[in-house]
Amino acid sequence: MKRFIHNLPKVELHLHIEGSLEPELMFELAQRNQVAIPFSSPEEVREAYQFSNLQSFLDIYYQGARVLLHEQDFYDLTWAYLLRCQQDRVLHTEIFFDPQTHTERGIAFDTVIHGICRALAQGEQELGITSQLIMCFLRHLDEESAFATLQMAESHLDKIVAVGLDSSELGHPPEKFERVFARAQAMGLKTVAHAGEEGPSQNIKNAIELLGVSRVDHGVRCVDDPALVEQLSLSRMPLTVCPLSNIKLKVFETMDQHNLMQLLDQGLCVTINADDPAYFGGYMTDNFLAVAEALPMSKAQAAQLSLNAIEASFIDQQLKQKYSQLVTDYLNRCS
Ligand code: ADE
Ligand code: ZN
Repeated sequence: MKRFIHNLPKVELHLHIEGSLEPELMFELAQRNQVAIPFSSPEEVREAYQFSNLQSFLDIYYQGARVLLHEQDFYDLTWAYLLRCQQDRVLHTEIFFDPQTHTERGIAFDTVIHGICRALAQGEQELGITSQLIMCFLRHLDEESAFATLQMAESHLDKIVAVGLDSSELGHPPEKFERVFARAQAMGLKTVAHAGEEGPSQNIKNAIELLGVSRVDHGVRCVDDPALVEQLSLSRMPLTVCPLSNIKLKVFETMDQHNLMQLLDQGLCVTINADDPAYFGGYMTDNFLAVAEALPMSKAQAAQLSLNAIEASFIDQQLKQKYSQLVTDYLNRCS
């Protein structure tokens, strides 16, 4: 099973590029850019990654992003992630970026997006990994800041497929951004949102009804509302679940208590993703392995998780068909 998972073709739909900043690169960039960080070694950084909830993680995560200043830094960050995708047999990835984490520090929007996109273009050319970019609004900031960010994106609509919503879910429900999301949709962008990670199942309903999302990021708290589970199953509304993240942030105490396989069995379009791999201890393969070790997972179910991600992705039908064929051929060969 380990080897099967390792070589299984995968698609990632929930990855914060700032969350792929490994401590080694953080140190390198801190030196290169003369940014002081309160750690003396990458090992010390790793030891500091003990979280009690989402907010305790976010506080450290925004600190870490302070070493990113120049276009080259965003390129290096994204390229390092793509090399990990290659190792993990990720065919396609849809990446979140948080412009406000950088523009609030005086970094130009263009610097961020150009660095990321240069690496993504190279990733497609040299590694054959296709990708899309999703611009997230930080929900702890106000609607005005989100509107200003959306305006900055206006001259980059050729590079952005969707808008998303991340950061502190508690106290910042989806409805706070209903008007911004309506504007984004009018601009031709798709929408996704983090909902039901730490927050109540009502946030999942509101993300669907008020923000018009094509996918729910996390969404694991849907189990508190059986009617919602039924609706998610019937509509095949995708959930981008992040198993290692959920354990690190104490959404579930242990992996054997995680509900994703139960949701998969109930017909939901569940997918497996890494969220912030540098902080939560693993990329795509690590996440699949951690689930398969703690919960019963057949090869067919592992393949189904990949097929779900292809179905839920924003790529065109032709590419979906090509990637799905790769997964089913692989399953047939290996079983
Ligand atoms: N930003 C980065 N990772 C996040 C997560 N898991 N939830 C909300 N916001 C985030
Ligand atoms: Zn996330």
